[in-house]
Amino acid sequence: MSLQSSEIKFAYWVPNVSGGLVVSTIEQRTDWSYDYNIRLAQTAEKNGFEYALTQIRFTAGYGAENQHESVSFSHALLAKTEKLKVIAAILPGPWKPALAAKQLATIDYLTQGRIAINVVSGWFRGEFDAIGEPWPEHDERYIRSEEFIRTLKGIWTTDNYSFEGKYYQFQNYTLKPKPAQKPYIEVFQGGSSCAARDMAARVSDWYFTNGNSVAEIKKQIDDVRAKAKLENRHVKIGVNAFIIARDTEQEAQAVLNEIISKANVEAVNAFGDATREAGAAAPEQEGNWAKSTFDDLVQYNDGFKTNLIGTPQQIAERIVDLKSVGVDLILSGFLHFIEEVEYFGENVLPLVRQIEQQQLQHLQVPAKSA
Ligand SMILES: Cc1cc2nc3c(=O)[nH]c(=O)nc-3n(C[C@H](O)[C@H](O)[C@H](O)COP(=O)(O)O)c2cc1C
Repeated sequence: MSLQSSEIKFAYWVPNVSGGLVVSTIEQRTDWSYDYNIRLAQTAEKNGFEYALTQIRFTAGYGAENQHESVSFSHALLAKTEKLKVIAAILPGPWKPALAAKQLATIDYLTQGRIAINVVSGWFRGEFDAIGEPWPEHDERYIRSEEFIRTLKGIWTTDNYSFEGKYYQFQNYTLKPKPAQKPYIEVFQGGSSCAARDMAARVSDWYFTNGNSVAEIKKQIDDVRAKAKLENRHVKIGVNAFIIARDTEQEAQAVLNEIISKANVEAVNAFGDATREAGAAAPEQEGNWAKSTFDDLVQYNDGFKTNLIGTPQQIAERIVDLKSVGVDLILSGFLHFIEEVEYFGENVLPLVRQIEQQQLQHLQVPAKSA
């Protein structure tokens, strides 16, 4: 296993939709209000988190009855923080690249280069139907997303930009001012299917995937990186994990059991049906939720599967295992966000850095000559 020399990074899911990160009736001291989110963002940046990811939803899924819009919410968080980079989720279809490119360039200017985007491709047909957006088939959605990302990058870097695609066309377009970040605003993408991986290899800076075991994550990374190599590109990898760090393993497991035993069965099943439609449309059946069980879906991006559940030491070791197969960033969710982000920063992160250092020193010891 190769060890990367740089430190693994941490992001957290912004709770800009109601209901927390688990579809369960367990008590969650997480709140979707602006006030709570400001305190969370400030706590996170003090505790070693470099990124925050907002979510985009137009209608309720899995019990998330209220949803603040992602780009405006991201900007509002950036205004109240100093270092944090906020990744705004954008859905091609409702968003057009000309608008997104301009809106994000302005936010980038206002925040000295701290906005990033997550281009998502749609999984919830009910949402598209409700807002009168056509619902292209699975792989077609990625053709559109790829054009979306290509045009954003083109507009952000090139004067007199022209593009003739299936979904988008530009003629001699010059955006001014260009973003503060050079060469352009960082582009993340969500999605795990074959089409998603192909797109990541060709155009995305970051590939975000659902939670999974180290072995399964490694398979995906190897595939994305091999495809990217053919394009002379390197793609960074972010993996979702729902983190339950407690002083003892028993306490952590008890929390997981309680979350699952109190699952909102109706909402989880409705979510499962929606994901099966999204996943079933992916021809090779390797989409985000293709193998998810009921228990997995209680955390809506399979975050339990990554198994960052246990003591700080166990979690730190597992994070470094993920790093050793090529993961660059852990995208984290928590039950009680503010207090658990603090606990993570105080108890888990220092252990991660310690293990990383030990491994680096080990690698740097010169081999004794025979
Ligand atoms: C980390 C992550 C974040 C995502 N965030 C959103 C989101 O905010 N809104 C959304 O509609 N879809 C979101 N998605 C869904 C993906 O864009 C995609 O539709 C889904 O993963 C199914 O893709 P697949 O069939 O290619 O695996 C996210 C996915 C991942 C992995």
